[in-house]
Amino acid sequence: MLKVLDHPLITHKLAIMRDVATGTKDFSQQLDEIASLMAYEVSRDLPVKPKDVTTPMGLCHTYELSKKVVLVPILRAGMGMTQGIRNLIPTAKVGFIGLYRNHQTLEPVEYYAKFPSDLAESVVMVLDPMLATGGSADAAIEMIKKRGAKNIKLVCLVGAPEGVKVIEEHHPDVDIYLAALDSHLNEVGYIVPGLGDAGDRIFGTK
Ligand code: PRP
Ligand code: URA
Repeated sequence: MLKVLDHPLITHKLAIMRDVATGTKDFSQQLDEIASLMAYEVSRDLPVKPKDVTTPMGLCHTYELSKKVVLVPILRAGMGMTQGIRNLIPTAKVGFIGLYRNHQTLEPVEYYAKFPSDLAESVVMVLDPMLATGGSADAAIEMIKKRGAKNIKLVCLVGAPEGVKVIEEHHPDVDIYLAALDSHLNEVGYIVPGLGDAGDRIFGTK
């Protein structure tokens, strides 16, 4: 399932991020805020279990989350989405996948992996602002599936149709959440109109 979170606040903040004149500080702040807004929608179908709570007025039959949530940012740029989601789901654990795209082949190269032990019982949210060719997200999802993850959500900011197609074909069980679905990839694999290189803009590198 592809869900594009078409919301005025998200679109407004994303427009600031897209602007070439926006610097590192504002870019990161908008990303953090959008990630929190996205977390609200991405967590909409999290499973719950009954819980009884004593209020000052008596007993309340209510619910609490029944599954652990694990956030897996794809390094580097996925780090920019992690804290915004943790602000909403503070009990979430965090794993890491280090991948970069070889700029010639556009193939993802793995350089780091570290996960909490209970991926199989958790809802795992893979985080990366950019879904371009889909190679990085595809590889990241493969890595966590190999470690037992079954309930996986891919949370990105801007997606290209090409990347969405790859994930839908290779991982039909994974729900994809985007803040925007853009037009296409250019000849060097960047999303158009996109927002440029997310990692460089978050961390001020070039
Ligand atoms: C960017 C981005 C994604 C990937 C998307 O990372 O953050 O991980 O490219 O492209 P794809 O869908 O074609 O795989 P990059 O490889 O630039 O690494 P970085 O985060 O270290 O800058
Ligand atoms: N990675 C980015 O950071 N931006 C793109 O447009 C494509 C891949």
